[in-house]
Amino acid sequence: MTEVVAATSSDGSPVRAVRGIDASRSSTVAIRHVNHFFGAGELRKQTLFDNELDIARGEIVVMTGPSGSGKTTLLTLIGALRAVQQGELTVLGENLHALDARGLVTFRRHVGFIFQAHNLFGSLTAEQNVRMALDLGPLSAADATRRARELLGELGLGERAGYTPARLSGGQRQRVAIARALANRPGLILADEPTAALDAQSGRIVMELLKRYSNEHGTTVIVVTHDQRVLDAADRIVKMVDGRIASDVRLKSAEMVCAFLRSCPVFADVGAEGLMRIAGRVLVERVPVGTLVVRQGDAADTFYMVRSGRLEVEIEEGGTRRSVRFLGPGEFFGEIALLQGGVRTATVTVREPAELLSLSKDAFQEAIEASDSFEQELRRLIFQRQ
Ligand code: CMP
Repeated sequence: MTEVVAATSSDGSPVRAVRGIDASRSSTVAIRHVNHFFGAGELRKQTLFDNELDIARGEIVVMTGPSGSGKTTLLTLIGALRAVQQGELTVLGENLHALDARGLVTFRRHVGFIFQAHNLFGSLTAEQNVRMALDLGPLSAADATRRARELLGELGLGERAGYTPARLSGGQRQRVAIARALANRPGLILADEPTAALDAQSGRIVMELLKRYSNEHGTTVIVVTHDQRVLDAADRIVKMVDGRIASDVRLKSAEMVCAFLRSCPVFADVGAEGLMRIAGRVLVERVPVGTLVVRQGDAADTFYMVRSGRLEVEIEEGGTRRSVRFLGPGEFFGEIALLQGGVRTATVTVREPAELLSLSKDAFQEAIEASDSFEQELRRLIFQRQ
């Protein structure tokens, strides 16, 4: 889908997470003031800084960000694969601090882990690999075998149940790993780079399977990834930078986005079908005051529309910054660099809390191709601004 906005405050440091807006659903994960450190003594280094995050039941969250930004550390804390050092972490209703060793083992059984190196046993068949996850559970041997076969069937591997990993493709092996992760009907699935080693088609299948399972069972899925292709399956994208949550984007219902797009002059002549298509690719983000959304001179990958709030456009020349315009609801920015193929021509900063809709470069291009009037209108409005 689209790039996540790197929300930074005007001094360049990441802003605090934008808090969730859907409080009606119960949280599967509640993270409060979580700090984390590696090493000891003089080598002790802080890797997570005061993180706060609520993830609702059934949400599919993609956690992204540069390597070393802390996303895998946070994922392993959520899965109780690491001890919480500071702060509070409640997952699936359990306060992870309060669990003893046995409690942790039981807790982890309710979590499905999917990792890039899928850790399948080479000497066991696909079915046996899945069955292993069920060995300590309540099912009888016959029921466990039935469940393993059923899962492999659902994941399109019914025919391959008797194959060892060496005889499966990378995508098939990853699906076995998913079947194993789903074996105990987990309330939460944690996946670390599940598509990294896969081609585009296998990566898409893996994400579609997770999405389908989540929809059917209300399972929460958290995926850590660098893989842009995974974003299509996400309900929400959390970006981490330097151990902090730098942005938290929720993708909202198409109707709201459509209604908004329809109200924007720039989309006035785009037909309903075109609007729906564009709406399907829009990301919605609430952005706090001080956030620098676009920085003059930066490379461009996103087009923005303002749903609410107020932003200031400033141009820097000869070391001084001059305000050229304020933007409000229904207006847009970030189109010049995309249309001209250059860098950002101005800096745009949030002055009153804003809700922004964004389109990736690709989706923007598609919108242009879908409608002559969209590009004409953009150019007319740009011309008027000069
Ligand atoms: P872009 O250059 O991609 O990123 C910065 C954005 O600021 C730019 O697109 C326009 O959307 C906006 N912008 C730049 N110059 C002006 C201006 N003179 N008046 C209004 N908006 C501007």
